[in-house]
Amino acid sequence: MNIVALISGRGSNLRAIAEAFRSGKIKGRISLVISNKKDAPGLDVARGYGIKGEFIDPKGFQGREEYDRYLIDRINMENPDLVVLAGYMRILSDAFIEAFEGKLINIHPSLIPAFKGLHAQRQAVEFGVRFSGCTVHYVTKDLDAGPVIVQAVVPVNPDDTEQSLSEKILSYEHRIYPQAIKWISEGRVKINGRTVVVEGARYNSLPVNPELEDF
Ligand code: GRF
Repeated sequence: MNIVALISGRGSNLRAIAEAFRSGKIKGRISLVISNKKDAPGLDVARGYGIKGEFIDPKGFQGREEYDRYLIDRINMENPDLVVLAGYMRILSDAFIEAFEGKLINIHPSLIPAFKGLHAQRQAVEFGVRFSGCTVHYVTKDLDAGPVIVQAVVPVNPDDTEQSLSEKILSYEHRIYPQAIKWISEGRVKINGRTVVVEGARYNSLPVNPELEDF
């Protein structure tokens, strides 16, 4: 499994994924990390793992289409099996999504289809939900709405803040993202319309519910 990752910021998901490759839990490698932000700390994360990192400046292009066309060519040079969005904060053109559809995945810090878009954790706190979580999904032209590969549920306490909920969710992001990539690398992930099936995965085994009384 050879992957290319796109980032814009901190790179903590990138780190979790890189660690899973380094420890051999996932077989293969990250051959390239691309950032649209010059100072993204994630580029240092890449360097720390000996992964090639490139800042590609959107300002050097005429617009989204042209930038994305360049990205498509650059990514294809790596011949990746999978393109992983790990905190990539730029809207993708349709051409980009079409170029990699079926091998383009993202992580979003909510249980989609709830709380799409920016500040998902703040949206969850403000809405007052008792559960939120995170989702790894295939990327389609609908923002944060492609077929779901795996989700983790995180309880929201009444005293949670955007910050505290983000931290709780992030610790699960770092588990489900490597997990999804591992399943894909093993050829176990099948897309059937909107439904993704992971062959051999244990479903119904997550202890996600609160302490409910017996009824
Ligand atoms: C994560 O919360 C992810 O769900 C969202 O952007 C954030 C990226 O964090 N898409 P990091 O750069 O991986 O630390």
